[in-house]
Amino acid sequence: MSSNQLDKKSQAWSALFSEPMSELVQRYTASVGFDQRLWRADIDGSLAHAEMLAAQGIIGADDHAAIQRGMAQIRAEIESGAFDWKLALEDVHLNIEARLTQLVGDAGKRLHTGRSRNDQVATDVRLWLRDEIDAIVLLLIELQRALVEVAEKNAEVILPGFTHLQVAQPVSFGHHLLAYVEMFSRDAERLADVRRRTNRLPLGSAALAGTSYPLDRERVARTLGMEGVCQNSLDAVSDRDFAIEFSAAASLAMIHVSRFSEELVLWMSQNFGFIDLADRFCTGSSIMPQKKNPDVPELARGKTGRVVGHLMGLLTLMKGQPLAYNKDNQEDKEPLFDTVDTLKDTLRIFCELVGGIVVKPEAMERAALRGYATATDLADYLVKKGLPFRDAHEAVAHAVKVAIQQGVDLAGLPLATLQTFHPAIGEDVFAVLTLRGSLNARNVLGGTAPAQVRAQVARHRARLSSGS
Ligand code: ARG
Repeated sequence: MSSNQLDKKSQAWSALFSEPMSELVQRYTASVGFDQRLWRADIDGSLAHAEMLAAQGIIGADDHAAIQRGMAQIRAEIESGAFDWKLALEDVHLNIEARLTQLVGDAGKRLHTGRSRNDQVATDVRLWLRDEIDAIVLLLIELQRALVEVAEKNAEVILPGFTHLQVAQPVSFGHHLLAYVEMFSRDAERLADVRRRTNRLPLGSAALAGTSYPLDRERVARTLGMEGVCQNSLDAVSDRDFAIEFSAAASLAMIHVSRFSEELVLWMSQNFGFIDLADRFCTGSSIMPQKKNPDVPELARGKTGRVVGHLMGLLTLMKGQPLAYNKDNQEDKEPLFDTVDTLKDTLRIFCELVGGIVVKPEAMERAALRGYATATDLADYLVKKGLPFRDAHEAVAHAVKVAIQQGVDLAGLPLATLQTFHPAIGEDVFAVLTLRGSLNARNVLGGTAPAQVRAQVARHRARLSSGS
């Protein structure tokens, strides 16, 4: 196709077509409005392909040089905003190729030798996503660092730990934050794994069956920094499982942010009053002057629905497709782009927000005291005095009942009253009934004792400074 013909694609695809595409169909089928953001990957892929074509003697050195020159100019044009994207040219690939041919003539037309847009687009999306994964992993590391900082400062701060949102046992607030560090570290791990499978080269698969030109696919993969070559042409041009896997990993990361957001919203409500958030992450109300709303965590929770929705969209996009390439796959881009944008913005904002959490230790501690959070400690105390755990559990249930009736904490019951629940209870019981005693007692690997929290902080610091 000559550049002239490419320009006139709106009128007819090739000599085969006898009527022009309607404007509506053109708009419906075009992707250039959104896939132009793949331009860097498209140029990099084309340059690697051209270099290999020249090395294999499939195109001449002069053509290769002309392609390099043309692409350098196109790169500058796109960067400066001067590039004229044309809807009639359908997508990013045809737009760049047409401009190349306009700039360097026949050499531009030779670039597409041994290649199809099917293996080209699959390559572009993989290259683009690989780099985005790297950016996201860096943000996850930064977020973990921010959480570790706050966790260390709050190793000794006591929060009521909940199960069923009922006060269960006291935990260190630092320990609670480190739970999210674990989640985000697994998110980074998952993304690193997805990256390996994303970073493989489809180019050379051509439309679906491979090509009759003597291509050196390994060379192209090396040039592009890819870890390998897709080994089946039909699979290479058609499956988007790497994008789906990525969306699943992104959904999990968003879900972790969303759980954290839910807690921030609860903690900030007057009924908890455990934290405050810096004003710059909140908004007021136009009608209620007293309001300060945690908009950022609420939006993050909301945007999680959007990212999970994109995962469902991509899965559904794939499910009915026969081999090999189908145009359905053009629909992979918008959900993928939006997933990347939403996740990156959310992580960026949370890196800042975490440092803006104002902790209210007294309120947390008061809430832990209100909920009989040391009942398990009393049961454990009785077990250590020789009672079977079930009997200890029963005795403590009676004690809690009486404490509720009297409106006091377990430690507020006089020794004589406590002894009515079991005679083995002695003066030493009061040490275990305090929140701090309970916290310090859980000095097991992975437990909430401040000593364990500090050990975990050190482990995370070492791990994060090595970039993993
Ligand atoms: N814009 C298309 C996409 O995103 C490029 C591949 C088109 N291939 C084709 N045979 N029409 O999937």
